[in-house]
Amino acid sequence: MTAGLPGAPRVLHAAAEVYPLVKTGGLADVVAALPPAMAAAGADVRLLLPGFPQVLDAVTGARPVCELGPCFGALRAQLLLGRMPGTHLPAYVIDAPHLYRRDGGPYQASDGTEWPDNQRRFALLGWVGAHLAAGEADPQWVPEVVHAHDWHAALACAYIADHLPTAAATVYTVHNLAYQGLFPHDDWALLGLSSRFMAPAGLEFHGQLSFMKAGLKFADRVTTVSPSYAREIATHEFGCGLDGVVRGRGTDVTGILNGIDEVVWNPATDAALAERYDAERLDGKLACRRALQTTLGLEADDHSLLLTIVSRLTAQKGLDLVLAALPGLVREGVQLALQGTGDAALEAAFRHAEQAHPGRVRVHIGYDEARAHQLVAGADVIAVPSRFEPCGLTQLYGLRYGTLPLVRRVGGLGDTVRDGATGFVFEAASAEALQACVRRAMGLHADPTAWRTMMRRGMAQDHSWAGPAREYLALYEQARLARRRSPRLAPA
Ligand code: ADP
Ligand code: GLC
Repeated sequence: MTAGLPGAPRVLHAAAEVYPLVKTGGLADVVAALPPAMAAAGADVRLLLPGFPQVLDAVTGARPVCELGPCFGALRAQLLLGRMPGTHLPAYVIDAPHLYRRDGGPYQASDGTEWPDNQRRFALLGWVGAHLAAGEADPQWVPEVVHAHDWHAALACAYIADHLPTAAATVYTVHNLAYQGLFPHDDWALLGLSSRFMAPAGLEFHGQLSFMKAGLKFADRVTTVSPSYAREIATHEFGCGLDGVVRGRGTDVTGILNGIDEVVWNPATDAALAERYDAERLDGKLACRRALQTTLGLEADDHSLLLTIVSRLTAQKGLDLVLAALPGLVREGVQLALQGTGDAALEAAFRHAEQAHPGRVRVHIGYDEARAHQLVAGADVIAVPSRFEPCGLTQLYGLRYGTLPLVRRVGGLGDTVRDGATGFVFEAASAEALQACVRRAMGLHADPTAWRTMMRRGMAQDHSWAGPAREYLALYEQARLARRRSPRLAPA
């Protein structure tokens, strides 16, 4: 197994998703790309993942390292150690067939209902993370830092604070505060945490049980995925009821901007594209644009502004603004190509919009990685009009592909797009503000030289993971120091 540079920490990343095996959103992209970037910076990094069928099938050379025995309703559970396909990073996989080996998504059945045993499924993830940290699950490799991602892995921080106070430092990253892992109060009995935790100073949240709070309250350091979102979640407007808890952690909460995987998202080598291109050879981008119009059945037109959206269709993403502005935008000559899945009402509304604007609006309700690349490469503009956005990755993919981002100034969108320099930024969450911003984009699009200058400026930006990986490594040092000086303990 790979070891890190002398002095570099042993780091365990615990998460529910990893691209390309299990993905519902940007979390998967981060968990696939940040750990290898840390390994490249010298850290000794491993992953911890639930044994979903796609993970068990893909991990190579898996061998058992520990019998977990009956736990969390699982009759039999085993911890395996293998390697990630592609990056070859070591990955622990929890093989608990009763909890993870089933068809459907990581959190929901195919019909969209939440798995009724999610509290057990993700308590187990945190519990194994904590036992690895304590040196009990694999004495051969004991992490010095446990980095838990989102509510799915958050309980690791509480288990460490409860039973295992001398274990590794913990870092908890909030990818989206809106998804909190809330469960009925009575599920408490399933978790095996001491009763002191079921209190407002612990995991209780208005009479419910909150996995998110386990990370927010008991991790040595809390991060989120952009500096602006770190500030926003301390406010009533964006705090989802947890702003008081966030404020309570003071300067322990910081924002580190996400990077992107520059191998997966590279227009010069992208196998999904009709033609490859880079900042010096932009002709290939025009070929991608024409190919996209042909494949989608959009009117062949080299001049109108072609807008794309690749997104989960949820209230977060502000797509109601797009629906409201769409008739006006189409009248002004805009084309829209959207791909997404999510809320049934938004899916239906976009299908309807497609019918209303044949040849000008094309909608693909579905999830398709290759087509996401073709959309990002072929469009002129990628729109991300979110009501809130912890970081956002598609605007970064847009920057890299010379597809100018048009975003609302919120969260990571405002931190990554400079209005008039690398893209277009609007303020108010209104159809009028969106439409005015698209008009500005159309104005610049009419000047091909100015447009190309902006494209090249965006393409030249560095959004690799190397910088963020170094920032996390520095933060780990603070977390370890904090743990030595004043460990986060169970509530009194
Ligand atoms: P979020 O995590 O909130 O969904 P991000 O912008 O961070 O937002 O990440 C979304 C990721 O999911 C990106 O990699 C994007 O390309 C991808 N994605 C979203 N919807 C689709 C879809 N329908 N088909 C393919 N990829 C999608
Ligand atoms: C979340 C956020 C998104 C972020 C992603 C990865 O899903 O909604 O803004 O980019 O996580 O951190």
